[in-house]
Amino acid sequence: MKFIKRTQLKERPSDLQFGKHFTDYMFMMKYHDGGWDYENACIKPYEPFVLDPSTSVFHYGQAVFEGLKAYRNEKGEVRLFRPMDNMNRMNESCWRLCIPQFDAKFVHDALVELVKTEKDWIPTAPGTSLYIRPFVIATDEALGVHSSRNYIMAIILSPVGAYYAHGFDPVRLYVEEHYKRACKGGTGHHKVAGNYAASILAADEAEKRGYDQTLWLDAAENKYMEEVGSMNIFFVINGKVVTPMLGGSILPGITRKSTIALLKARGYDVEERLVSVDEVVSAAENGTLNEIFGTGTAAVVSPVGGFGYKGKDYTVGDGKLGKITKYVYDELTGIQTGVKPDEFGWVEEII
Ligand code: COI
Repeated sequence: MKFIKRTQLKERPSDLQFGKHFTDYMFMMKYHDGGWDYENACIKPYEPFVLDPSTSVFHYGQAVFEGLKAYRNEKGEVRLFRPMDNMNRMNESCWRLCIPQFDAKFVHDALVELVKTEKDWIPTAPGTSLYIRPFVIATDEALGVHSSRNYIMAIILSPVGAYYAHGFDPVRLYVEEHYKRACKGGTGHHKVAGNYAASILAADEAEKRGYDQTLWLDAAENKYMEEVGSMNIFFVINGKVVTPMLGGSILPGITRKSTIALLKARGYDVEERLVSVDEVVSAAENGTLNEIFGTGTAAVVSPVGGFGYKGKDYTVGDGKLGKITKYVYDELTGIQTGVKPDEFGWVEEII
């Protein structure tokens, strides 16, 4: 791997707002002349791209990305959580957008090298980590709508605290009836930039109404809970954990599948099935909606204190952090940071 040294290092930030600060170095690799250029892939100073205004990603959004985290403890040990899963998912996203797939092991190893280079940037306070953002963009300079013949892959790093501005306090979700995020056969279960672009209008409107995020319903029947966009969603109804099953329009979250595996291994009943908004509303009304929580790399495990639907507000449980939500948070973050044993083999200790 080539390494280009920077002459002056950045000042470290004093706050860890999500995704606002970036480290000294980045990884970059190009695709041209029919192949990924592994030979010239490099770790180099973090800097802007210079791209022609006609560059295809600006116009047609051929772009995919991933999100994972590195955790450092007081002893200086650094761990990654299931990084090959992110590499494989990014390759699947590439396939869906006609972006050439890449050698997942090569990019994994480059990511590890980049994180090792930037290990001093990884915060150690509880709830903090180094967010890792790999992405690929199409870079043909042309306005025809077709798959590009040139791409840039990059990995950037950002020291972060909680994703939500109010930290681990329960969030409020707005169940969106009008706009749709994804449909079967579309790109909803891939991590492509366009999914997020399509979600912003509804998120803005939800925020104006006083909610933190949108809870999406399915596009075909406008009836079933799907996901939040920045996280997958779990409900605890009458003591049982249920989560919408994957069906082509929901992102197969790595934290989602880890939560399911963890809870099952610890003896909880977890159902992956259709969850209708009517079922959740009834449970809220008859007092059996114990908890709702979201899972995601950025969001980790986020308690949901209430939701709005058809102009009415519903409280989840007592509106506070629930028992199972806290359990999943403590167990997963314990495994991720090395405080708890990793019986599942999910963690890669890189330093
Ligand atoms: C992540 O959780 O890593 C994501 O990519 C979600 C993003 C919207 C912050």
